[in-house]
Amino acid sequence: MSDLAQSTPLIHLRGGATSFVVELGAPLPHVLHWGADLGELSTAELDTIRATAVPGITHNSTDLPRLLTVLPTEADAWSGTPGIEGHLRSTGMPYPRFHLTGHTHDAQASSLTLRLHCDLGLELSLRYRLDAHGILAVDGRLHRPVLAGTPGEGDAFDLTALTFLLPLPERATEIVDFTGKWSRERSPQRHPVPFGTHLRESRRGRPSLDSPYLLMAGTDGFAFRTGEVWGMHVAWSGNQRYLVEQLPEGAGAHRSVVGGGELLLPGEVTLADGDSYDSPTLYFAWSDGGMDGVADRFHRFLRSRPHHPAKPRPLVLNTWEAVYFQHDLGPLLELVDRAASVGVERVVLDDGWFLGRRSDRTGLGDWFVDPEVWPNGLTPLVERVRSHGMEFGLWFEPEMINLSSRLAQEHPDWILAPPSGAGPSIRHQHVLDIAHEEAWKFLYERIDSLVSQYGIDYIKWDHNRELHEASSRADGGRAAVRAQTEALYRLLDALRARHPALEIESCASGGGRVDLGVLQHTDRVWASDCNDPVERQHIQRWTGQLLPPELMGTHVGAAEAHTTQRVTSLSFRLATALFGHAGIEQDLNACDDGELSTIRAWADLYKELRPLLHSGRVVRADLADEQTLLHGIAAHDGTSALFTWARLGTSAAVTSGRIPVPGLAPDRRYRIRTRTEIGRPALHEDPPGWLASADEGALTLCGHTLSTLGLPMPTLQPQQALLLQFDAI
Ligand code: DGJ
Repeated sequence: MSDLAQSTPLIHLRGGATSFVVELGAPLPHVLHWGADLGELSTAELDTIRATAVPGITHNSTDLPRLLTVLPTEADAWSGTPGIEGHLRSTGMPYPRFHLTGHTHDAQASSLTLRLHCDLGLELSLRYRLDAHGILAVDGRLHRPVLAGTPGEGDAFDLTALTFLLPLPERATEIVDFTGKWSRERSPQRHPVPFGTHLRESRRGRPSLDSPYLLMAGTDGFAFRTGEVWGMHVAWSGNQRYLVEQLPEGAGAHRSVVGGGELLLPGEVTLADGDSYDSPTLYFAWSDGGMDGVADRFHRFLRSRPHHPAKPRPLVLNTWEAVYFQHDLGPLLELVDRAASVGVERVVLDDGWFLGRRSDRTGLGDWFVDPEVWPNGLTPLVERVRSHGMEFGLWFEPEMINLSSRLAQEHPDWILAPPSGAGPSIRHQHVLDIAHEEAWKFLYERIDSLVSQYGIDYIKWDHNRELHEASSRADGGRAAVRAQTEALYRLLDALRARHPALEIESCASGGGRVDLGVLQHTDRVWASDCNDPVERQHIQRWTGQLLPPELMGTHVGAAEAHTTQRVTSLSFRLATALFGHAGIEQDLNACDDGELSTIRAWADLYKELRPLLHSGRVVRADLADEQTLLHGIAAHDGTSALFTWARLGTSAAVTSGRIPVPGLAPDRRYRIRTRTEIGRPALHEDPPGWLASADEGALTLCGHTLSTLGLPMPTLQPQQALLLQFDAI
């Protein structure tokens, strides 16, 4: 630890070819650089960086040069989104002025903690950690100490927002972030960086289906493989904000800023003496390797977490699309047997097993196995699953309640709604106030006891509506999205502590709660309710912008997709579902022998390839023709890769010509093989001759040739995919 008086004026954090430079200025530190690694810097060089970080004084502006502080506010004449917003209750004073009182720099851990104090009696501990993969984690704790004799003593501070902002240079001219809807999550959208604020908020009590997800600013036309990109993710499952902001005067010597934080509702955070507010962590990543570079940093970072799933991701069968609410033991046992016969390793019983749950209108809250449909409990099903050596998973939607449930009748005060009325229902359901201690305990007891009774290995944890007017009835109607989110994390943690082997999936109307906050407490996400492979190709490639394949549920659905009614071939559906944590939603009881044997071959292929698929680097080629996709997973050591060449629709051009295959080791020679176990894709025309050689594993090319010249790819029929394996020889 060092005092301000003895501190080094500049702190330089380095990690994963990224640098982050902060000047410990007064009253507040300034961010001088976030981006490319600056290398080992001499004191003289650091001094020069500091000296050249000061811009000129412009017309009609401050009399001193503007600098971007770590917590920009009006106190330093910052006219953009303030780093902190709120006011002192007694006086209404909304202008906290912070100054640096100390810092801790751990060069080994590449971390910096700044201790800031403000005249309104608040302390902010602001933490930056730059990991070996280039992920910069930023979080803060705002604390109101019990101090006698300070201004505002005994007074409360109403916090409106705590926003962390990092600088962007002038060359970051474009933004890519995401929107979406049910069954089409994570649709990218591109904008120029505007003057003013590009602001994305979720006020839905969860990141939701239109989550901004990962806000990326980058150089002109940045793409998967090219461009410099600065990305930011809010690791939080409640309300949140993402922004890029450009003021005419810039941000110190920088052009604009990127950042965000939790979106707090009025009255959600009041800091009285002794209280603290812990912000969510914001993760920032810079790369000069395009969006693939950013994705790779996040994937490596996630894989380095101690709790990252370590055992092979078991092949899943989920009952939802096969039976929906029709829970009959006979057909379910047959489904289990068929699942075992094709190589499934985990069977998940979806919605419909608990009291009164014959449709999506009833039952939520009554987490008892329904004796009407399960007269012997779940035991006969669980025993059959176990007899095949498979794991058993069960669906829950703990945070929800139907007003007709016993729970709602007995505990109307547990409904998360204003005291005067329950508010609009969505999917015929309301929300349970899980921050209510008794409600939380009820859920814990119910889930714990079912997990213990049936030895449940896996929970699909669903959340099928947004939160509106989320008000704690027990707390006079106080806004409670933050409390709900914290209670969720506590509940997940308590269950995992009690059942250390239990795995949990985050699902929310499909992919409505996909964030690195919930993934601190869960093991994978359900990417979307849409199992149509055409839609899934998009959803998965963009969900993969943040998450590695092993954290993303990718299941094969029925030939006629339940969500779009598009009919696709089995091989295309299987090829699509291969690139994630694979599973089956299709009704195996309705499959003929031919389909079952293809699914069995796919299951074998998944098991053979999952070590590569769940550890390699995601590669997405930039192609001019939007009807074609080339993406793959390449081993970090360059030994192997698996690619998909897919066609979604027809194109104006007759052929694609040579398509470079990026991401392979340039100096290695590869044997190229087609993998046709799941069927050959239908071709629109005679294929190029090399495909026959690849069928025999007789084609070899070096990585450099592949990534520069590439291969003349066959023209596939629409909605077809070709799997190509590359093995270094
Ligand atoms: C929404 C999920 O996304 C589906 O997979 C399924 O579990 C249903 N809920 C069940 O109600």
